[in-house]
Amino acid sequence: MPKGEGESVADRLSAVPLFASLSPRDLRTVASTGSVRSFAAGDTIVGKGDKGLGFYLILDGKVEVRADGKTLATLGPNSFFGEMALFEEQPRTADVVATAPSRCLVLSRWEFWSELAHDPEVLRTLMAAVVGRLRATSKALSE
Ligand code: CMP
Repeated sequence: MPKGEGESVADRLSAVPLFASLSPRDLRTVASTGSVRSFAAGDTIVGKGDKGLGFYLILDGKVEVRADGKTLATLGPNSFFGEMALFEEQPRTADVVATAPSRCLVLSRWEFWSELAHDPEVLRTLMAAVVGRLRATSKALSE
């Protein structure tokens, strides 16, 4: 990633609740390790059942999380998805579809764990998200 772009992504990351406990140095490392990917409205970013390789932080845009014909969540800037596949090598639990032109910072599982596993607050926030999302998914699928 060009240096200027890495710096501006790092600035953006300081507003991300998941990364609130990281130092400016950590944020720069995360920004320069990940790659920024752009998606058009309608693109399926991850597909339910696919092998899960990466973690996605939304920089701009809007996505919908869908499973079994139901919309489980709408996520926007500073939210993340793909965290479930970080914890276990299992297929994606839902489709995530861009509903507006979107940009995401993408980290591979290996990059995520090597850059962020040292921070207990990041892990706690991730776990809280996973638990809340599981609860929401169970509720939506039982309705
Ligand atoms: P993963 O299973 O790796 O890929 C699909 C992603 O959709 C999943 O990680 C979560 O990030 C996200 N996801 C699944 N269920 C929900 C939900 N109920 N609310 C928000 N996001 C979800």
